[in-house]
Amino acid sequence: MAKFSALASILSLLPFVVAQSQEWGQCGGEGWAGPTTCVAGTTCTFMNDFYSQCLPGAATTTTTPPSTPTAPASGSGLNTLAKANAGKLYFGSATDNPELPDTAYVAILQNNAQFGQITPGNSMKWDATEPSNGVFDFSGGDVIASFAKANGQILRGHNLAWYNQLPAWINTIPTTEVGAALTTHVTTVVDAWDVINEPFNDDGTWREYVFFNSLGSNYVSMALTAARAADPAAKLYINDYNIETAGAKATAMLNLVKELQAANIPIDGIGMESHLIVGEVPAASSFISNWEQFTALGIEIAVTELDIRMTLPATTALLAQQQTDYNSVVSACKAVAKCVGVTIWDYTDKYSWVPSTFSGQGEACPWDLNLVEKPAYNGIVAALTT
Ligand code: G3I
Repeated sequence: MAKFSALASILSLLPFVVAQSQEWGQCGGEGWAGPTTCVAGTTCTFMNDFYSQCLPGAATTTTTPPSTPTAPASGSGLNTLAKANAGKLYFGSATDNPELPDTAYVAILQNNAQFGQITPGNSMKWDATEPSNGVFDFSGGDVIASFAKANGQILRGHNLAWYNQLPAWINTIPTTEVGAALTTHVTTVVDAWDVINEPFNDDGTWREYVFFNSLGSNYVSMALTAARAADPAAKLYINDYNIETAGAKATAMLNLVKELQAANIPIDGIGMESHLIVGEVPAASSFISNWEQFTALGIEIAVTELDIRMTLPATTALLAQQQTDYNSVVSACKAVAKCVGVTIWDYTDKYSWVPSTFSGQGEACPWDLNLVEKPAYNGIVAALTT
């Protein structure tokens, strides 16, 4: 976070930031390093501590911030329960910068009793942080980092080397320059933690993209080594999906951890993304036996992107099954001592990535579109308390 903030401060001195934000654009908020004035015809308007926005027309309110919505009761919040009852480090949620103008959404997200950890869904990815070769922009990520810091929440950096959301330039530079570009990116950006994201295909073979194609599997060692050098305190993770239970992909990941350890390459944890499907989630024991194979290697694991989608429309039966399924995953994390925490991939269906990716599916989160807790929420609470 310190590096993120420091670099953002330097960026704030550069000429481009004297530009004005466009209509509906961000113009302020903790951590915001971009323009703080708006184009003609719009007014920079305070939404919450983390977001001011250029709204059409003249200012209609004073500069006094609106009162903060009342926080939900904290005694049974998920983070409180995860820490006090289940011995975990946190219960967390992903979020994304465009969601921060939503004051009702923020009121729940910033409640530390519910969420003790935050993952930025997009704004620390490579296309956001290094859009041109050697040109870094931490403004979006810094807003999320400031949000987490202000609310006493742990931040999970996401991510450094992934095949997706890469800027075009990385695929056009000479192959001989890719290694240096990877090292520079990791060294400049890292706070923590998802250093390598989704390195394997579902059959356990290596995913082919610019880093693997240019550097072979050695890119993993390069990135982890650079990350450790950049921030010795950060926990360094490899994160993937479809490794939550035993199978070819989980075996490939286990073997990779063993190879890294044998070569003295730093690896602290494996992220189990856990983008799951209602009715297809096995009992907790299936997760536990697989996760304990990883923790037996001396590393930790975390559930990093949990959501459990269904084919719409939601029915009472589907929501009840979803409650059971959330319970299974969170119970498994509770049972595995070195499962440090659970992060849901945004807490509300209002901002879930699922409907835009899986046509006809959705309702994957524990809070509904109106920010009301669903039966899944009770499944999580039960897992953390029993
Ligand atoms: O920023 C542009 C915006 O300018 C444009 O108007 C809009 C039009 O589609 O697109 C916006 O970018 C979108 C971006 O999210 C920010 O909202 C991309 O199209 C969209 O593809 C992107 O989706 C993200 C996805 O990763 C990309 O693969 C999701 O929000 C994000 O939740 C998702 O997260 C991934 C994890 O990083 C890794 N594990 C899987 C997980 C789910 O796919």
